[in-house]
Amino acid sequence: MLASIITAALQGAAAILLLVVGVLLTLRLYIRHKKKNQLPHLRQDPGSVVVGFFHPYCNAGGGGERVLWCAIKALQKKYPAVQCVVYTGDQDATGEEILQKAWQRFNIKVSRPVEFVYLTRRDWVEAKTWPYFTLLGQSMGSVFLGWEALCKLVPDVYIDTMGYAFTIPLFKYIGGCQTGCYVHYPTISNDMLERVAQRTESYNNRRVISKNPVLSFFKLVYYHMFAFAYGVAGKRSDVIMVNSSWTLGHILHLWRAASKTSIVYPPCDVEEFLKLPLKEEDSQRTTHTIVSIAQFRPEKDHDLQLRSFHEFLKKKSNQEISQYKLILIGSCRNAGDVARVEELRVTVKDLGLEDSVEFLLNVSFEELKKQLHHATIGLHTMWNEHFGIGVVEIMAAGTIVLAHNSGGPKMDIVVDRKGTKTGFLASDITSYADAMETIFNLTPQERMEIRMNARESVKKFSEEEFSQGFLSCVSCILEEK
Ligand SMILES: *[C@@H]1O[C@H](CO)[C@@H](O)[C@H](O)[C@H]1NC(C)=O
Ligand SMILES: *[C@@H]1O[C@H](CO)[C@@H](O)[C@H](O)[C@H]1NC(C)=O
Repeated sequence: MLASIITAALQGAAAILLLVVGVLLTLRLYIRHKKKNQLPHLRQDPGSVVVGFFHPYCNAGGGGERVLWCAIKALQKKYPAVQCVVYTGDQDATGEEILQKAWQRFNIKVSRPVEFVYLTRRDWVEAKTWPYFTLLGQSMGSVFLGWEALCKLVPDVYIDTMGYAFTIPLFKYIGGCQTGCYVHYPTISNDMLERVAQRTESYNNRRVISKNPVLSFFKLVYYHMFAFAYGVAGKRSDVIMVNSSWTLGHILHLWRAASKTSIVYPPCDVEEFLKLPLKEEDSQRTTHTIVSIAQFRPEKDHDLQLRSFHEFLKKKSNQEISQYKLILIGSCRNAGDVARVEELRVTVKDLGLEDSVEFLLNVSFEELKKQLHHATIGLHTMWNEHFGIGVVEIMAAGTIVLAHNSGGPKMDIVVDRKGTKTGFLASDITSYADAMETIFNLTPQERMEIRMNARESVKKFSEEEFSQGFLSCVSCILEEK
């Protein structure tokens, strides 16, 4: 009796497996057949290689899009036989308009035509389509959208530049492509798993769930299963690029494919800051300023800035105190920001810093550059920032940076260059105050060395470095073809 049940179950399983394999093979043959008749002008030359970039929001004008256009530009320059194709959901813009925008926004001009494949069902990957099980929904949606893309054009090499890891197996196994991806941000992270495990409420952990142990348990199981599937899918990529050490840590943990994963820093636009002349300090100067540039958001921790500065001034005589100024530059975008500025003003008063601290709200970019240029120290206090473009800007401007000893500033930005310092890191009131003391005690020459070194070191976030890094990663999958 038992034996016959087991046999029946095994037969059932085998039948399902065969069915799945059969369906997959049929899809694969169907796609291979399709490929022969698609966009023949792209494959006129026998040696041509079609590289498809999956970037449904390619007209958005953000940092991710800068990466996309720089990558295409670099590929076109190095490989004359490569035809670049972008899968986009921006149906309201023509290819010409999209390229025009890339040029206006990022000053990037591709050298050869780019083909656009328009996807009609971008709503499948939008969060609002999936009010429940959003992560899973969006990921399944991305596979449907990927299927639409594949049916419209089968590339030779597929590169996902928006983090839709679940499309990778589709293009690899059904599309028969070489695959790569550039990850800005992990779809799920350990931080999210922890928040559910510890039942903290947040934007992706609703109150009903965080308050209920049973729901929290099931959500945790769901998240873990999702994280596992995400890893299985992502790992199928032949090359994996990540944008920072922070992302690297998460992707290594989730995808476990260290041998094919590398950091390729995105190109940061700091030209305007690099143009500022690197002047010798005036030896007669009587005032030193510390400048902080940050939106007035709680995580930026302006409070730490005020308290550290206060601690630093404590040891100074009244006459010396008048030589130092802290300038807080930031934009006030809403009532919350305005309220935080008011709170900070109260703290300034409590600490007796009225004459030493200045707020500059909503200033122009020109004014911001001028302040940074004249400052001795550029201050950053946000804990565990994933990257910190503001810190790169301070260094590019030739100002000595004093940043938080965590996250991107610690791992990627304020790191020694050829064994010499590029800036300073601190983590609490005392260490910030000490670092301020140290920096002001350096001679102008010593400071100049650090400033020059810092400026050199931010070149690793330049477009050239990005292009080189990107090409060296994708060269192996291109040359396979
Ligand atoms: C990587 O991407 C994330 C998400 O867009 C962003 O927050 C972070 O600043 C990026 N890192 C770099 C080095 O640009
Ligand atoms: C700063 O600009 C925002 C909008 O751009 C405005 O709402 C706000 O009132 C401005 N704040 C100040 C202090 O000028």
